[in-house]
Amino acid sequence: AYTAEPYLPDRGGLPALREAAAGCRGCPLHRDATQTVFGEGTAKARVMLVGEQPGDQEDRQGKPFVGPAGKLLHRALAEAGIDPAEAYVTNAVKHFKFTWDEPRKRRIHKAPTLREAAACGPWLAAEPAAVEPELIVVLGATAGKALLGSSFRVTQVRGTVLEEEIHGHAERLVPTVHPSSVLRADDREAAYQGLVSDLEVAARLL
Ligand code: URA
Ligand code: SF4
Repeated sequence: AYTAEPYLPDRGGLPALREAAAGCRGCPLHRDATQTVFGEGTAKARVMLVGEQPGDQEDRQGKPFVGPAGKLLHRALAEAGIDPAEAYVTNAVKHFKFTWDEPRKRRIHKAPTLREAAACGPWLAAEPAAVEPELIVVLGATAGKALLGSSFRVTQVRGTVLEEEIHGHAERLVPTVHPSSVLRADDREAAYQGLVSDLEVAARLL
């Protein structure tokens, strides 16, 4: 099975994890992507946000949530009262997966499979263990399934506080929708307000 496991360092905290992840070949996604996009933020972050996987801009720049979905997320965080400087932001899968849109020569995001998310799982397990956030904000279904299992349904639990054991650590989690889903929504304003109100639930816990 594909897995990042052999690439994980056994010591060194967040800097060692980031460096090791840059060389990960635990699944085929590293082949076509530009670089590993590891989590960003201080190791003292009080809140960890987990998205799906890097997009086109993130793949080029090597940082999570710097494209359109990231801009929307940062605006929503500020509006909810969460200081981005207090947040550690990462993704369930660390390499960009895409197909080419031939006529326009654009790279179109493709959702990672469960196998790819499982392969990348050791990085996602190591990040909360290193950062020890007070709270994890789960952005959408891929992150939810990666952290909480395949029965996760974002519509059922969004905006609530979950207490779950994750890789032996008791964690508090607040799930919400993925910011990309706000960009695709028919009623964008309503979808955006929904995201902000879920993030306010998280902000009240900090
Ligand atoms: N979408 C994600 O899930 N993560 C990113 O980093 C960017 C877009
Ligand atoms: Fe490794 Fe994850 Fe990239 Fe696959 S997606 S190569 S498991 S870092």
